[in-house]
Amino acid sequence: MEKTFVMLKPGVLQRRIVGEVLSRFERKGLKLIALKLLQMDTAMVEAHYAEHKGKDFYEKLLAYTLSGPVVAMILEGEDGIAAVRRLVGPTDTRESLPGTIRGDYAYRTRLNIVHASDSPASAAREIALFFKPEEIIEWEDGNAQWY
Ligand code: CMP
Repeated sequence: MEKTFVMLKPGVLQRRIVGEVLSRFERKGLKLIALKLLQMDTAMVEAHYAEHKGKDFYEKLLAYTLSGPVVAMILEGEDGIAAVRRLVGPTDTRESLPGTIRGDYAYRTRLNIVHASDSPASAAREIALFFKPEEIIEWEDGNAQWY
């Protein structure tokens, strides 16, 4: 089992599609083990997106991420990081096909609606940035055999 971090960006709340997007992950069979609504501050957004500092879209990315609350979650599943990335689709929305979350809901890459960890190292870093260990609930999965 592998844990991964997902963040629904402020536009998801503005558009009232939190439930719809969350249900994509649940329907696939991923296990939700942590969830919170939060307003990030500048320091937290800078830490989260540190690898993008200096890129031409960086300032707009900060402004968008700070423009309202986000929904942060940890999902777990077999090969969870890759499974979530497949559901989410490519970062560049011109390449994200219908059927993926970005393909179905996002027109512009800057507003690509969800962030998902791209490697075990980034998942570990992002989980630690957003969640305390006691906020992660390892519940018994009685339905695991069906997915
Ligand atoms: P995310 O998965 O959250 O990781 C970094 C974010 O930067 C990305 O989603 C997009 O929101 C944004 N981003 C990445 N590349 C571009 C780009 N070429 N133009 C605008 N925004 C981008």
